[in-house]
Amino acid sequence: MNSDTLRSTISITLVDAAGACDRTVPTTVRVRGNCGRSCRHSCHVPARTLGRGRGDFSAGAAYADGMSENPATPSNPDPDDLTAALSTHTDYGVEKLEEADAAADPVTQFRAWLAEAAEREVYEPNAMVVGTVDPDGAPSVRTVLLRGVDERGFEFYTDYTSRKGRALLATPGISAVFPWYSLHRQVILYGEARPVEQQTSDDYFANRPRGAQVAAWASDQSQPIDGREGLERKVREAEERFEGVETVPRPERWGGFRIVPHRVEFWQGRTSRLHDRLVYTRDASGEWALGRLQP
Ligand SMILES: Cc1cc2nc3c(=O)[nH]c(=O)nc-3n(C[C@H](O)[C@H](O)[C@H](O)COP(=O)(O)O)c2cc1C
Repeated sequence: MNSDTLRSTISITLVDAAGACDRTVPTTVRVRGNCGRSCRHSCHVPARTLGRGRGDFSAGAAYADGMSENPATPSNPDPDDLTAALSTHTDYGVEKLEEADAAADPVTQFRAWLAEAAEREVYEPNAMVVGTVDPDGAPSVRTVLLRGVDERGFEFYTDYTSRKGRALLATPGISAVFPWYSLHRQVILYGEARPVEQQTSDDYFANRPRGAQVAAWASDQSQPIDGREGLERKVREAEERFEGVETVPRPERWGGFRIVPHRVEFWQGRTSRLHDRLVYTRDASGEWALGRLQP
């Protein structure tokens, strides 16, 4: 399909949160979340409006008034122009989270939202950003994948000798956020992380792909290494070690942590930044109380 065909078959309308900069453009315009030089608002284009995503609209030679005649393409973005990236003012819409609709406990509420995140095609809905505190007091964060959740807590797997592993074994205090931006939602956990039972780690490890099992042996997570080749050599050594061995055993240094929360916040974005923030707090008897925070 050439650009003329594209231009004649599709047009889209950009509308910002306040409806202030409506305009229709041919799709040969690269949609960058900003309607052009003449408008100082940042216009948000919901992903669902764009079908398969912004990249689909990158080709072509015709540009709307006010747009650059040689815009950066998605594969070659202009790092000197972060206007669109830094100035979005997305309106967080009409969904709400009210006390009457919240479950009696945070695990039930979380399971409902996680199922919805998967159903609504959040990318990696079980990814959470986990914050820990090193033995010297330095905070650090990274993403891990949630692998289990029940009334005991939230499980993830890692190398106990990694930076986060050492941090948690010394200081179990932990916080984690599930950033479900496309739903205008986040869930934040506050609690303590404890290693899961060895059998639980064994069972989980046994179900991993063999490549990941071998990698767990090969990689001393978070330790420096001299180049990619050094890592690949360690993988070859691990592969040789387990050649002909049907079941790769779990390395002792690798296993799960279970985050046992004492506080869980469910955040639902609302119009004009008047978001809903419902917080479950566990009392001394283990009962959950529900409260609300100002946005
Ligand atoms: C989407 C995603 C999922 C990840 N899942 C895990 C995981 O489940 N476990 C893990 O140890 N690292 C995971 N990682 C890698 C970590 O973010 C991190 O690089 C690694 O655990 C080392 O962190 P540390 O040096 O702070 O201990 C993931 C990274 C991404 C981007």
